[in-house]
Amino acid sequence: MREIRLAPLAGVTDWPFRKLCFEQGCDCAYTEMVSATGFVYAPQAEATRNLLYRAPSDQRLILQLFGNNPEHMYKAASILSATGDFDGIDINMGCPVHKVAASGQGSGLMRTPELAEEVMRAAVRASHVPVSVKMRLGWDAESLNYLELCHRAEDAGIASVAIHGRTRVQMYAGEADWDAIAKAAETVSIPVYGNGDIFTGEDAAKRLANTAIAGLLVARGAMGNPWIFRQIHDRLSGKTPVMPSTREKVDMALAHAMLLMEWKSENVAIREMRKHIGWYLHGVRGAAFVRTQVNRAETIDQIRELLESVCASEEVRA
Ligand SMILES: Cc1cc2nc3c(=O)[nH]c(=O)nc-3n(C[C@H](O)[C@H](O)[C@H](O)COP(=O)(O)O)c2cc1C
Repeated sequence: MREIRLAPLAGVTDWPFRKLCFEQGCDCAYTEMVSATGFVYAPQAEATRNLLYRAPSDQRLILQLFGNNPEHMYKAASILSATGDFDGIDINMGCPVHKVAASGQGSGLMRTPELAEEVMRAAVRASHVPVSVKMRLGWDAESLNYLELCHRAEDAGIASVAIHGRTRVQMYAGEADWDAIAKAAETVSIPVYGNGDIFTGEDAAKRLANTAIAGLLVARGAMGNPWIFRQIHDRLSGKTPVMPSTREKVDMALAHAMLLMEWKSENVAIREMRKHIGWYLHGVRGAAFVRTQVNRAETIDQIRELLESVCASEEVRA
């Protein structure tokens, strides 16, 4: 069976969101990216501790580290893989954000393949759990070096790679190149996971058909849509995927808010929920007004009332 994973998403894939995805059939999730250097210098920083938290609901969790300093990668991978909290360590070679990439980290590491290999070897030497890499196709269309990096990864003892089928320069524009991902899966003997533009069960079936791709990472398609994991599994096993009703969307958004409240103060939970509610209500008829109002809400009761009003107005229309 092909594995369907929740991709790493900074600011999104914390444990409450991961829990909802696991409940909907997600096979494996990644943490948000964590700086190896940041961890080495300030391992107890509260923000870092939150990113590293594994909840009992995390069925299979891969910690994603970013950085281009092999010593820091070694140290972070060594300490964090020994905690027993993670099923794998993943090295980020795909982040396109300027601050990260311009300093040679994330997708910037693809521009220095020798250093990238050193970082991979350091993590593999240090880690007590399998090490994987998540990369793009290269920096730009003139430097597509994903196949070289896949070979280097294999030689370095990396257990699997995930490829987002775009270059750094593309950011999120255009279509992900799944032919390139399929080619990588045929070229190396370690498992290759594909990533890019999976928004429906149909997308997944189309991208996996007749390829050696080991599984998928779903990122934007899961935002406000944890059901996508069930939908993909259903479609791949020949069943018709079921779409959530407005009631289910509202219940999911409320369940999400309650999980965040278990962990953080009401104030913080509400601020963090705003973007999620926007995603949950995406495409729901008549929800535009509620999405605006949610940005002004200050208590969980106000959020609940606003969300319930979406269902109420749907009932009136029906
Ligand atoms: C808000 C946001 C945050 C992201 N954070 C990370 C991250 O921490 N680590 C990473 O490797 N990729 C990160 N990505 C990239 C995604 O994991 C994924 O590679 C990309 O969105 C393409 O997949 P999609 O088409 O399914 O969205 C992020 C993407 C978005 C939109």
